[in-house]
Amino acid sequence: MTPSDDRLARWIAALEATHFAELTFPEVSRALRALSSTYVERREKLADGAALSGTGKRAAFALFYGPLHHLLVAHIVDQLPGATSDVHTILDLGCGTGASGAAWAAACAKTPRVVGIDRHPWTIGEAAATYKAFGISATVRRGDIATAPLPKGPASILAAFTMNELPEASRDALMARLVARAADGDRVLIVEPLAGFVARWWNRWRDTFESAGGRADEWRLRTELPPIVAKLDRAAGLNHREITGRSLWLGHR
Ligand SMILES: C[S@@+](CC[C@H](N)C(=O)[O-])C[C@H]1O[C@@H](n2cnc3c(N)ncnc32)[C@H](O)[C@@H]1O
Repeated sequence: MTPSDDRLARWIAALEATHFAELTFPEVSRALRALSSTYVERREKLADGAALSGTGKRAAFALFYGPLHHLLVAHIVDQLPGATSDVHTILDLGCGTGASGAAWAAACAKTPRVVGIDRHPWTIGEAAATYKAFGISATVRRGDIATAPLPKGPASILAAFTMNELPEASRDALMARLVARAADGDRVLIVEPLAGFVARWWNRWRDTFESAGGRADEWRLRTELPPIVAKLDRAAGLNHREITGRSLWLGHR
């Protein structure tokens, strides 16, 4: 399990204590199966917040996808040259439980502050607890990233597993805003699953990022999973032998 930081283990232990106080392991693994089917087969429901409806799905999201996203983003920022130096503020767009923003912040030479924004009320307290668990000074607010004014730069802007949940027109408009922010000196990191349903819009934005001097990558990370993640993975029959994803990056030129 990398990063070898014991903050990660403590964060996961706290999540287990919270969620297993209310639910049994079979309940969480059943909810994880339902949640992964929402992501894969019933994507149209995501816009209604279906992925985070009910304590079971929330527990599954926090205990399973959160740590996976965290490990993947930690790996990505470690591999992208310059991504962890001179970072003062991270905007974590669609922060969810804060897993990905915390990964980027925790990987930085000097821990930056984080502003998390999400439209779903449940995520606000969860994200605040995650940032705190990593010793990150953070503000979390409720808002629609498609329409809300974003805090001014300089900033390192992260949208992890979020862009794909926006309706196409909102996504295109936000991507264009982010590319413009990068031209003004901000850094932008977009992370999404490798799944085919993302690819339709991905290729177009990959070309835009590359022409603006950025890069696109696909990631396949083989790493030891935290024990509860491995146990849920087996129980729900999901088989994450590797953690995969793709990213778009615009850093400083
Ligand atoms: C799959 S989760 C990813 C969470 C987190 N970034 C991570 O990497 O684990 C997507 C998140 O985006 C949020 N989201 C989706 N559309 C949004 C919007 N228009 N404005 C704000 N948040 C949004 C959802 O509420 C959810 O918390």
